[in-house]
Amino acid sequence: MGIYALTGGATGIGAAIKARLEAKGHRVIMVDLKGADITADLATAKGRATAVEGIKAAAPEGLNGLITSAGVGSHIPDHRLITNVNYFGTVKVVEELVDLVALKKGSIVLLSSNSAPMSTSEHYVDLLLEGNETAALDESDKIGGHEAYSGSKKAVARWMRRNAPAFARRGVTINAIAPGYTETPMTKVVSDDPQYGESIKRFKESIPIGRAGEPKDIAALVDFLVGGESGFICGSVVFIDGGHDAMLRADEF
Ligand SMILES: NC(=O)c1ccc[n+]([C@@H]2O[C@H](COP(=O)([O-])OP(=O)(O)OC[C@H]3O[C@@H](n4cnc5c(N)ncnc54)[C@H](O)[C@@H]3O)[C@@H](O)[C@H]2O)c1
Repeated sequence: MGIYALTGGATGIGAAIKARLEAKGHRVIMVDLKGADITADLATAKGRATAVEGIKAAAPEGLNGLITSAGVGSHIPDHRLITNVNYFGTVKVVEELVDLVALKKGSIVLLSSNSAPMSTSEHYVDLLLEGNETAALDESDKIGGHEAYSGSKKAVARWMRRNAPAFARRGVTINAIAPGYTETPMTKVVSDDPQYGESIKRFKESIPIGRAGEPKDIAALVDFLVGGESGFICGSVVFIDGGHDAMLRADEF
């Protein structure tokens, strides 16, 4: 049985990933703001250090997999928080834990989003990828919530692709997944909002497969990507969105 570390496993997609891996007998070390094995705020450097040290202490022998599901949505008014959790709360944790994953030649899966290609804030994305934290956070204040969200997810996917070859040479596979609209506490906040509810309903109706995603759809993909049969998949951004990205960007490949 394997040992996995997972961020953001208290609710939504992360909770479904945790349940699926544990049902297979794996051990999951989970980090979240509450209800976790390791309580840590990944928006802060201190919280990230707590998470990393806690995972290292819990799995000194190494990790079979690391999955980063912690994130906040585009509706959050504090755009710095979106940047801090979604980008820095992902890449800084992976940077610190890749050695532990290499010990077991394991797999890393990052939660991007099918909104990532829609980001038009290239400057923001560049600042993130340069690691220019102060400038990226300042830029977060100047752009809209959707741009901060989709930009943070585009940067996560690009960061993954830039690092995938070096990780692969160490026996570690890393991929990102790009879910479309999935029913979770994050999306419920927006779909229940009187201002946005109607447009969300229309958005959901436009998903070609005829339904929104469920957390268990996403968990099945993550399970495959951290499992033993996906060892040749590395550096990919896997869309899991009922055909939405194909509908919107058929020829952008
Ligand atoms: N639901 C969707 O439609 C959708 C689509 C594309 C991508 N995603 C991504 O999937 C991931 C999971 O989203 P979800 O829909 O399950 O949302 P969710 O809100 O149900 O789960 C997010 C989890 O992250 C945790 N979290 C938030 N801020 C944190 C912090 N500062 N430190 C530690 N943990 C923190 C929350 O407590 C929660 O348990 C996110 O990265 C999200 O951006 C979701």
